[in-house]
Amino acid sequence: MAEYTQNMHILIFGASGHVGTGLAHHLAAEHRITGVVRSRPNGETAYEPVVVPDWVDRPRAVNEELARTGAPPVDAVIAAVGGWYVDAPLIDRGIAAFDQDYSSYLRGHFAACTVSEALAEEGGGGSIRHLALNGVASVEACVGSGAISVFGAAQEMLIRVAAAETKSVSHRELKVMAPIGGDDRNDLRGAVETVSLSEVADAVIAVLTRPEDHEISTQLSV
Ligand SMILES: NC(=O)c1ccc[n+]([C@@H]2O[C@H](COP(=O)([O-])OP(=O)(O)OC[C@H]3O[C@@H](n4cnc5c(N)ncnc54)[C@H](OP(=O)(O)O)[C@@H]3O)[C@@H](O)[C@H]2O)c1
Repeated sequence: MAEYTQNMHILIFGASGHVGTGLAHHLAAEHRITGVVRSRPNGETAYEPVVVPDWVDRPRAVNEELARTGAPPVDAVIAAVGGWYVDAPLIDRGIAAFDQDYSSYLRGHFAACTVSEALAEEGGGGSIRHLALNGVASVEACVGSGAISVFGAAQEMLIRVAAAETKSVSHRELKVMAPIGGDDRNDLRGAVETVSLSEVADAVIAVLTRPEDHEISTQLSV
């Protein structure tokens, strides 16, 4: 498997989010970054936006849009889809909220995996590296963020199944086990330690450059 230390073309799902935007900012100096977004961003971004409003429902539209714009072959995909909230208990929030969280988390990750498989197919079975970001809620039952725990745990199995069933994509997951710095939604009272975006970026690049040295799911702790 080829080793890349620089100049990968990286496709980021969730590029408009806290982690996606931060990763693009940290990685853009050494890599070409394309960000898949549902609406055109306002102002300058560290990534080249590819706007596909319904990419979760029509993941192949992302591959078509990349081809239409003449983008170079993609080497790696980062899925930073989902988000974070603390709200009422899981059951009290009701089935509509549960369905909505399924759409934002697990369904988005499924669609991102679909794009990676299609990219590998288009590249003649070449090696696409796919990294899904996940958090501590996937291993701990987080009170008030219950759906994130449920879909985060399922996300790990999605990546494991996808890895077991493919020959052409290196599916990996990185669980960031602490709040990521700079996210105002995190409750940091009581001197909670955070992981910086540059640490996350370094860990992401370590996995993407040498996926064979990493387990399917790895953890980044403070
Ligand atoms: N923030 C943290 O402290 C932290 C800590 C550990 C792990 N993580 C992991 O990092 C990843 C990203 O988190 P984040 O904090 O960056 O989240 P975020 O700021 O809320 O961003 C979420 C991203 O997901 C996209 N998204 C949400 N629902 C969608 C849907 N239904 N269809 C398509 N796109 C959708 C959003 O796109 P739109 O802008 O188009 O809605 C946005 O780009 C998650 O996997 C999380 O587990 C975050």
